[in-house]
Amino acid sequence: MDLQLERVTEKEAKCKPDQSCLGFGRHFSDHMLVMSYTEGKGWHDASIQPYRNFSLDPAAMVLHYGQAIFEGMKAYRGKDGGIYLFRPADNLARMNLSAARLCMPQLEVDKVLAALKELLRLDQDWIPSAKGATLYIRPTMIATEAALGVRPAKQYLFFVILSPVGAYYPEGFNPVKIYVTDKYVRAVPGGVGHVKTAGNYAASIMAAVEAQQAGFTQVLWLDAVERRYIEEVGTMNIFFVIGEKIITPPLGGSILPGITRDSVIQVVKDWGLDIVERRITIDEVLAAQEDGSLTEIFGTGTAAVISPVGSLHYQGRDCLINHGKTGALSQRLFDELQAIQYGAKEDPYGWVIKL
Ligand code: COI
Repeated sequence: MDLQLERVTEKEAKCKPDQSCLGFGRHFSDHMLVMSYTEGKGWHDASIQPYRNFSLDPAAMVLHYGQAIFEGMKAYRGKDGGIYLFRPADNLARMNLSAARLCMPQLEVDKVLAALKELLRLDQDWIPSAKGATLYIRPTMIATEAALGVRPAKQYLFFVILSPVGAYYPEGFNPVKIYVTDKYVRAVPGGVGHVKTAGNYAASIMAAVEAQQAGFTQVLWLDAVERRYIEEVGTMNIFFVIGEKIITPPLGGSILPGITRDSVIQVVKDWGLDIVERRITIDEVLAAQEDGSLTEIFGTGTAAVISPVGSLHYQGRDCLINHGKTGALSQRLFDELQAIQYGAKEDPYGWVIKL
């Protein structure tokens, strides 16, 4: 890939934010990766350029019909000062699945990864070194062709922006309070719930706002057909520890195939724990909470890492999970994944790339 480079001038370079109060997705680094696509020509004009506004035609198809997909990954600053990436090719491969579902063009994973590494080298001073802080990487693709017919666009823009972040939830790694909604649904079979398209998130906002207004951190979605089977949480996949088993809903086409979800499944299998991917109803979870066999619930995601669930609220009833405390497995998984991601522990899986 022929990659042009335009650096910020000394005057344009931004001040780095205070690492102790980064929040999530509020600060952006100096540069971004940008690449255009035109039907018949393929991807072209790849460049690293100063982070700046785009100019879009008001008829750009993304603004009307929502052909927009994205990914989330992170760059970690190891204790040795090295820069580590966690499964970036898997994120880009997932982006290609999203692109295929939305009739958008495929990326050349190796080339995009090489360009992303260049961007990270250039903006490496933006990778925080404070504990728990990382550089969140947001690859995005949007339809830019100016046209109002409903069909796949013939022009696209792919870009990657970088954001130094702290914990996704205000609670940090502490247990979150989850609202189980049976009023709204996130995804239907045959729909787009299994891909990372902007519309899924737009459609989730009302439920999330209502949950937050009622004092909860996130929404847990049930299946759209029977409204009984657990699917996922707003920005995470979900796991339950019931008796000796770890249970997570299967990828049935309406759940996002999380990279962290997949990593957790592999790690716990290697620990010799009993993990099953099977459908599980909210009633089964509540019954297990009542009889004491439910000991832990946690969510997994790039932004959220491992997020213990302290309580579930369903149909007017509050259920405390593990006395509202972080469970032992959540803690062990969090420590293990973070150690691998920050390059502090040998990675037996080949997940980590050192820059
Ligand atoms: C991620 O975990 O990377 C996500 O995409 C969640 C995001 C919507 C904040």
